[in-house]
Amino acid sequence: MPILQNLLLFLPPSLLTLFFYLYLFLWKKRSKPTLHLPPGRQGLPFLGETFSYLKPHPATTIGQFMQDHITRYGKIYRSNLFGDPTIVSADAGLNRFILQNEGRLFECSYPKSIGGILGKWSMLVLVGEMHQSMRMISLNFMSSARLRSILLPEIERQTLMAISSWKQDVAFSAQDEAKKFTFNLMAKNIMSMEPGEMETEKLRKEYITFMKGVVSAPLNLPGTPYSKALKSRSNILRVIEKKMEGRRHQRNEEKEEEDDLLGWALKQSSLSKEQILDLLLSLLFAGHETSSMALALTIFFLGSCPKAVQQLREEHLIIAGKKLEKGESVLNWEDYKQMEFSQCVINETLRLGNVVRFVHRKAIQDVHYGGYDIPCGWKVLPVFAAVHLDSELYNEPHQFNPWRWQQKSSSGMAVNNNFMPYGGGSRLCAGSELAKLELAVFLHHLVIKFRWELIQSDCAYAFPFVDFPKGLPIKVHAIT
Ligand code: HEM
Repeated sequence: MPILQNLLLFLPPSLLTLFFYLYLFLWKKRSKPTLHLPPGRQGLPFLGETFSYLKPHPATTIGQFMQDHITRYGKIYRSNLFGDPTIVSADAGLNRFILQNEGRLFECSYPKSIGGILGKWSMLVLVGEMHQSMRMISLNFMSSARLRSILLPEIERQTLMAISSWKQDVAFSAQDEAKKFTFNLMAKNIMSMEPGEMETEKLRKEYITFMKGVVSAPLNLPGTPYSKALKSRSNILRVIEKKMEGRRHQRNEEKEEEDDLLGWALKQSSLSKEQILDLLLSLLFAGHETSSMALALTIFFLGSCPKAVQQLREEHLIIAGKKLEKGESVLNWEDYKQMEFSQCVINETLRLGNVVRFVHRKAIQDVHYGGYDIPCGWKVLPVFAAVHLDSELYNEPHQFNPWRWQQKSSSGMAVNNNFMPYGGGSRLCAGSELAKLELAVFLHHLVIKFRWELIQSDCAYAFPFVDFPKGLPIKVHAIT
């Protein structure tokens, strides 16, 4: 030992520092058991594999990146995405486990740019108690009582307005029409804005610029989509703020208040002005982009499945016929409940089209799952699309087959806990029932009144947000 001490005394300081760090490294390695991370690779420094992961691909597929990684590493692999070490899961069990352990083992964790644009009080980025109270307001607003008595008649009114503007034999973008319809519906439910009015149209155009920023690279430089979107965000918030002031005047003058989300948020909560603004903006976003895409996808899939259109038409003609006999002119909840095949079509559209392909989470503790370690702080991406298109879980997963949802279990329900188009756990989509209602009511009038044809080959792409590059051009022909 004295020999070693003497040797150390005569070593140059730089070598001593090197020894010191080597010692620390070995000590740490020995004291901490080796992690058993899922297989995978890091990719490029900083960028990791983000660009390959985000490479656009047809929405009805999982894309080359996902395919290659699953083949090579299995359904759970590690990567480096969005600047963080990440576990990607195409495994139905792990996806469920992640969503069911929200707040305990995992937490919602969207990239910072999303918070920058949707706002720090947006439901998509909030966690904990604040998220819960915003969620309660949204759920109450879309309660089943309100769905029956207020939202259903409004959806039908707006569906009829939308489709009555369609001209026969003139091509138009089904995707744009779907977006206009769902935007107008949300603007009405959130702030009592009427479709077609100048103020609503101005807001809708502003919103299109805003959306381009949500899905673009977060570069806040003059002229970039992101910076334009930040400007649009301020303009949209100004409109909402003006509405808020109007409501306060209304209240002071003791006039009757509108029964919309803004009225609710002002009355029922102790939220600050900023919180209400972000809540309204994030609901406009969550409730508009997703259901419009689901509607466009339904029109797309049905366009190449005449057998399903025929069965849908029969279902809706029976409902319409019964109403005629009873002398009723508007749809009610009982009619909606009879739209069983329509629900199969909606499920199948969401399974195959995957409007929300994955969600962002991070581990807030060290987690052990299926023999793998997921270290605290790592990002976790449950990829629903990969489960929905998994041939081990769905027979011929790339086929549009709404009849697969008719096979019922012994409990009489088409149960399938691998199907998660609306997420799950304590962050399950707050508007899932509204979305189903919108789609079913729209389908009712669409199939009864029109036949339609897709007039150019177009295909839904995952960018990863889903979009039809050509806007899904269609022509309609009235059924006489
Ligand atoms: C087919 C249409 C829709 C699909 C596929 C869909 C999908 C989803 C998914 C996957 C999530 C979970 C996000 C996460 O866990 O990070 C979510 C959350 C949410 N969705 Fe939807 N959604 C749809 C329609 C709607 C509509 C019409 C509304 C109405 C405003 C809405 C409001 C919300 C809200 C407020 C949340 C956040 C819930 C929370 O964090 O507690 N969604 N949606």
